[in-house]
Amino acid sequence: KDKFKDKYPEIKIENCYSKIVKLRQTKDKEEIEEIKKSIETTKGGLEKVMENIKPGIYEYQAETYFDSYIKWDGNKPHSFTTIAAAGVNATILHYRENNTMINDGDLVLFDLGCHTNYYISDITRTYPANGKFTERQKEVYNEVLNCNKKCIEFLKPGLTWKEYNDYANSLLIESMKKLGLIKNDSEFRKYYWHSIGHSIGLDTHDPSINNLKFAPGMLTTVEPGIYIEEEGIGVRIEDDVVFTKDGCINLSKDIIKEVDEIEAYMAKNNKNVK
Ligand code: GLY
Ligand code: MN
Ligand code: MN
Repeated sequence: KDKFKDKYPEIKIENCYSKIVKLRQTKDKEEIEEIKKSIETTKGGLEKVMENIKPGIYEYQAETYFDSYIKWDGNKPHSFTTIAAAGVNATILHYRENNTMINDGDLVLFDLGCHTNYYISDITRTYPANGKFTERQKEVYNEVLNCNKKCIEFLKPGLTWKEYNDYANSLLIESMKKLGLIKNDSEFRKYYWHSIGHSIGLDTHDPSINNLKFAPGMLTTVEPGIYIEEEGIGVRIEDDVVFTKDGCINLSKDIIKEVDEIEAYMAKNNKNVK
């Protein structure tokens, strides 16, 4: 930099990071169309997972149903290394080994995505390996789902990442109290240790400026989770949304996430489910 300055003293050198980030944060119509395509393929891949998963196979084997579909549907590359985490493995941050056998009664968390023309999707769904949630799994799952849905209703231009995060945290704290996991608010980090979302685009964690207000055309993930190591239950539900003039649109709303829908889909399409 100094050499450059010496040679061209008349040229002003500025850090353009924030300008570029601002440009990248807001997507135009064509960019959003690419992301929609990659979400559509991810949806197909997750359906294949629901159709074929069963107790007794390894996490990496369950993962191949997704891999094979994204290859089939346009040879799309992964956006990042897939997380396929059964039972207690779903409570481990950044679990990527995917080498454990899936047991009957496990919930299996899949955090995955693909990209089309370099625009990524980043989706998480959590499925019961045998096609049926236990009562306790359902309770935990529905609290995470409640937070996911309330956040999508809450998001609109003008809010900041901090307001978004604080809102999600307050919902999850209430849920953890309801589930009998915590008494004091400050204990909630034991069961939830990441933030509620991040910008997506060309990168899975696209650059963003922290205190910037959300604006139309920006995208974020909505990915609450509750991870209970002592019960072997980890649930995360992640959608990708785009901000509009007065709210947001969930681009992955067609990837089913209600307990009833998942159970019905698996009962109908997975021959291992009785
Ligand atoms: N798979 C990375 C994330 O959800 O942020
Ligand atoms: Mn993810
Ligand atoms: Mn994410």
